[in-house]
Amino acid sequence: MNESYRHYLWSGLGLSFLVMVVLAYVGVRQARWMAQAAQDLDLERVQKGRVVYVQQCAGCHGLQGQGGTGPALRDRTLLANTPEGVLFSVIRSGIPNRLMPTWGVEYGGPLTDEDIRSVVSFIRQWEKNATVVTAEPFVPSPERGALIYAAACEICHGVDGAGADETRAINDPFWLQAQSDERIQSIMRFGYPEKGMPAWGDVLSPDQRADLGALFTAWRKGERVQAVNNRAELLAGAIFSLENGDEQSARVRIERAVYGVPSAVGQILEKILLDLRAGNSQSALDALRTLQADWPVGDAGLGASLFVQHCKTCHGVDGEGGLGKQLQPNEFVQENTNAKLAEFFRTGRAGTAMVSFSNRLKEDEIGNLIAFLRTWQK
Ligand code: HEC
Ligand code: HEC
Ligand code: HEC
Repeated sequence: MNESYRHYLWSGLGLSFLVMVVLAYVGVRQARWMAQAAQDLDLERVQKGRVVYVQQCAGCHGLQGQGGTGPALRDRTLLANTPEGVLFSVIRSGIPNRLMPTWGVEYGGPLTDEDIRSVVSFIRQWEKNATVVTAEPFVPSPERGALIYAAACEICHGVDGAGADETRAINDPFWLQAQSDERIQSIMRFGYPEKGMPAWGDVLSPDQRADLGALFTAWRKGERVQAVNNRAELLAGAIFSLENGDEQSARVRIERAVYGVPSAVGQILEKILLDLRAGNSQSALDALRTLQADWPVGDAGLGASLFVQHCKTCHGVDGEGGLGKQLQPNEFVQENTNAKLAEFFRTGRAGTAMVSFSNRLKEDEIGNLIAFLRTWQK
């Protein structure tokens, strides 16, 4: 009895052992199979994400994530410091008032949560061989300063700081040589209350004040600085925002484009803003597209005096021609779009007396001249 009991015990133990081994084996296979399935799913996600990325993001962040209008995303520091959840929500809701649109359907964007998860996986797989991208250091720019000046100061201090009714010329090199940078910065921050100059400290960022500082430095040297005119870019950005259901960003851009714009365009833009405020984003979008197709749009009245100033000597006071061709009427003007004509004025016609006007005419002025030339074609 003892003997046979022991026999059973041993075979029982052996059997259990066998079962354990088999179970373990199955378990390991199962785990491997599951890992494989997860990997396949990941791969599928990454591939789906790649499609979304190329279609929706590459335009601003670069095909290889190297950056462009938007920052580089194939950036080791960014990827290491940004958890999945943060990437997900940044993409889903966008970054308000910046160029980064909202993408999630909840925010009126085109991407489902699943699409966003895929694009996050796609961005994430760059981490293995991402480079460390160092942000471009901020360098104050007089051209950006001129743009801020036109938006914030021109109304009281005149075009290019030349002064107006209540204010002196602040672009005068002799006067500026007696003014330290510190004094100018301090007036911008704290204003000049006793003389009616408002404080800008909270409105302008330190970078913007530095850009304005660079503008004053240029004026002190007697230079004239042209504002970087990015109205065409603002229009394109506003259209993009509206196409993605982001009315707030569209408004910010149009409000910026309105500053200092010739009245003809100003009226169109104001009308678009009214539409947006009233929730008619479709008609705003249509109007923006028309404006973009006709860009640059200008003011014929202002163009008339520019013509007298810059063109009359060669083309005749009524466009009857002389050294230059007859412009009233003119087929070249009729056959070309505003954009093509603007390009023509910027580059001129090589080997002829029709030189480039890019140093003599601002972007707005070119728009005004084109509007004026069109009045001669009717
Ligand atoms: C119209 C241009 C544009 C498009 C299109 C765009 N982005 Fe952006 N994106 C930006 C800009 C500009 C920023 C930086 C915003 C700021 O000033 O903080 C940004 C920021 C980001 C950030 C945060 C980066 C950081 O440094 O914190 C992520 C992540 C991002 N974008 C992902 C995407 C993805 C994914 C898509 C496509 C679904 C996309 N972006 C499409 C312009 C764009
Ligand atoms: C609402 C009108 C208004 C706006 C907007 C305005 N200023 Fe002034 N500013 C004045 C007045 C008024 C004075 C004092 C009169 C004078 O000195 O010409 C002044 C004075 C100044 C002075 C000192 C001149 C001096 O006599 O010492 C500087 C520099 C200046 N402003 C720069 C700026 C800059 C830069 C901006 C834009 C960020 C700006 N201002 C916007 C009205 C304005
Ligand atoms: C120094 C003389 C001169 C000035 C100043 C000048 N142009 Fe011209 N322009 C010419 C000449 C010459 C041509 C013809 C070039 C050629 O032979 O193809 C021309 C050609 C043109 C044409 C193309 C016409 C065609 O049928 O090909 C346009 C449009 C034009 N000019 C507009 C202007 C405007 C607007 C201004 C003022 C901003 C201006 N030009 C200033 C000399 C001048």
